[in-house]
Amino acid sequence: MAKAKTLFACSECGHETAKWYGKCPSCGAWNSMYEVEAAPVAAKAAAGTALPSSLPVPISEIDVSGEDIRTSTGIGELDRVLGGGTVLGSLVLVGGEPGIGKSTLLLQICSALCAQGKVLYVSGEESQRQLKLRAQRLGVNNNNLYVHAETRLDTVLSTAEKLSPSFMIVDSIQTVYRTEVASAPGSSTQIRECTMSLMQYAKSMNVTVFIVGHVTKEGTLAGPKILEHMVDCVLYFEGDRHASYRIIRAVKNRFGSTDEIGVFEMGSHGLMEVPNPSQALLEGRPKDVPGSCISCVMEGSRPILAEIQALVSETSYGNPRRTADGFDYNRAVLLLAVLEKRAGLMFGGCDTYLNVTGGLHLAEPAADLPAVLALASSMRNWPLPENLAAFGEVGLTGELRSVMGTAQRLVEIRRLGFSACICPRRSCLNVPVPEGLHVIPVDTVRDAIDMVLGPERGR
Ligand code: TYD
Ligand code: MG
Repeated sequence: MAKAKTLFACSECGHETAKWYGKCPSCGAWNSMYEVEAAPVAAKAAAGTALPSSLPVPISEIDVSGEDIRTSTGIGELDRVLGGGTVLGSLVLVGGEPGIGKSTLLLQICSALCAQGKVLYVSGEESQRQLKLRAQRLGVNNNNLYVHAETRLDTVLSTAEKLSPSFMIVDSIQTVYRTEVASAPGSSTQIRECTMSLMQYAKSMNVTVFIVGHVTKEGTLAGPKILEHMVDCVLYFEGDRHASYRIIRAVKNRFGSTDEIGVFEMGSHGLMEVPNPSQALLEGRPKDVPGSCISCVMEGSRPILAEIQALVSETSYGNPRRTADGFDYNRAVLLLAVLEKRAGLMFGGCDTYLNVTGGLHLAEPAADLPAVLALASSMRNWPLPENLAAFGEVGLTGELRSVMGTAQRLVEIRRLGFSACICPRRSCLNVPVPEGLHVIPVDTVRDAIDMVLGPERGR
């Protein structure tokens, strides 16, 4: 009998190799290779095809009438992120840290989904009793909602075949397993195989499946890439789980745009929609203190105002510390270098901390200028004008580059009561300015700092 072949797979990226490495040759993660049993090639090939095999058909003859039917989840903010509701037969991955509110959100949408058909909630983490208690707290009670506390995926799928639900929720993908796969639940092989089976089930039975996936503390789903490319839609929960605001973001969406965000607040009756996120994110902001600047970033089709805070303090130990929370670390370091070289602010002997309040993660380059102003304000120990907001991308030569959506941003800034806005000159050419808003166009980082902090103010 041929000896069973063993392989090594990376738990971070799913890369497989014939021998063990301390560092994954594909993604560079350390100590992430573990042993897996090689599946026969035929089984692998079968697993690779998520869709039922069919013959090639001319595209004009494919019947899609009634395919793009959207079902509202009953939560406007979530519908927006999904691109207008869930699509029949799609596979949606909801990722986030443990305790952020994934199970709560999915249980809450059951109310609206139950109106459309049966919902099967598969829980590998909580017992039926626990789920019932949570559902009671959330006010979810419908005879169309079936709860199944089970972790064997084969059992789940055969139950689903008998029940024929319209929606299925699998909470979580890390707890379910297929008995014929040798590796442990939560390993990348199991996650991949289970997701494949669920994909096949969703597509062949036209059932919308939601999968919950926990992220590791590094902020990635266990075996992240292998999961993301298989599903139709990836939603991530952001935000501090100790704070009340939760932000859900579409990272991938085959049926709508990405970058849309939905903002929620966790309360005693579950997640509540926040209809006016800018106002919520700015609540309780300190006034007249150095190191705070209001930014306006586009999140999908919406402009959102958020506060960026910076703290610059003298280094007590050899190496200066740099941290960035809610802001890309490398971008923050780059901005510090631009400030040193182009604006003459020396951070060499200073620790710098950058933070975006409210748990929002700013990925748009338009957050550069407000970050730079917050850093300069803290460095000079002089507050920025209280009624000022800023946006604009900073280039390596210290120039300010224009960003899109200027008109919408200016309207939002004015709507929230700000009376001045500093932005790149090229952004505000031929753009209508709302009444009562004073726009300060600038060309470089140095000009921007001089304009709002004055050349000599502060230390
Ligand atoms: P949960 O949905 O269990 O998180 P996940 O499934 O992402 O691990 O959320 C749990 C947190 O939410 C927990 O810390 C308690 C809090 N919570 C509320 O504050 N109010 C509520 O009504 C519910 C149901 C949970
Ligand atoms: Mg949960």
